[in-house]
Amino acid sequence: MIRFEDVCYAYDGVPVLRHVDFIVKKSEVVAITGPNGAGKSTLLRMVNGLIYPELGGYFYEGEKITAAKMREHRYSKWFHQQVGYLWQNPDSQLFCGSVEEELAFGPEQMGLTSREVHTRVEDALSLLGIEKLRKRAPFTLSGGEKKKVAIASVLTMNPSVWTFDEPLSSLDEESRKWLLEFLMALKAAGKTLMISTHEIERIKGLVDKEIRINTRHQVQVV
Ligand SMILES: Nc1ncnc2c1ncn2[C@@H]1O[C@H](COP(=O)(O)OP(=O)(O)O)[C@@H](O)[C@H]1O
Ligand SMILES: [Mg+2]
Repeated sequence: MIRFEDVCYAYDGVPVLRHVDFIVKKSEVVAITGPNGAGKSTLLRMVNGLIYPELGGYFYEGEKITAAKMREHRYSKWFHQQVGYLWQNPDSQLFCGSVEEELAFGPEQMGLTSREVHTRVEDALSLLGIEKLRKRAPFTLSGGEKKKVAIASVLTMNPSVWTFDEPLSSLDEESRKWLLEFLMALKAAGKTLMISTHEIERIKGLVDKEIRINTRHQVQVV
C-alpha cells in the first residue's frame, strides 16, 4: 500500500532522511520511533504528500507521489481522502469557527451532498461523545477535547490510512486510555496505521512492526 524506495530528504542541505526503504501493507499497524529530531514528523509529512523525496520514491498504491502528481486536483483530493493526518499539535489542524464546521469541512471538500455531510458529522460527534461541543470554537477547548475534534475531523473523511504524530504526548492519562482504545478500534476495523511515538511500550500490543530512525537519520525496520 505504502512503499518508500531509497528515499532521501534534507532541509536546506541538512539530511533528515537517508536512503529510507520500507513498505507498509494494508491493515498493518506501524510504529515510527527514534530520538527527537530523528525525522519522524518529516517522514509522516511525506507519507501525507506534503513534502516529496529529493531522491528515491514514495509510492502509494503503486502511484509515485510527486509535486506534479499532487498538482493534479482530482488525484490529490482522492489521495488526501485516502490518507488522514493527525498533527502532533491539534492547533495546527483546527481552523474553523466551530466544531461542526471543522468536521464538515473535509467531506464538503470531497463533494458529498449536504445530507451525507450531515450524517458523517453526526456519526463522528456521537462516536467520539463530543455532541455537546458542536457549537464551540475549537480554540476554546481543552487539549484532550481538541485531540478528539481533530480525530473526528479525520473520521468524517473515512481514510484507509491513519497517520498519527506523537498522539499520546500532551494528553492526560484518561485521554491516553481513550486514545489507545480508539487506535485498537481502528486496527479492528482493518485500517492501516502509522504512529510516531516516544512510548513504544504503550502501543506495543497494537504494533505489527517498527520503523526505527536513528540519530544518523537511517531507518531500520524491526
Ligand atoms: N521545516 C523545517 N525546516 C528546517 N529544518 C527542519 C524543519 N522541520 C524539521 N527540521 C529539522 O529536521 C530534523 C528532523 O525533524 P523532525 O522530522 O521534526 O524530527 P522528529 O519528529 O523525529 O523529532 C530536525 O533536526 C529538525 O530540526
Ligand atoms: Mg516530531
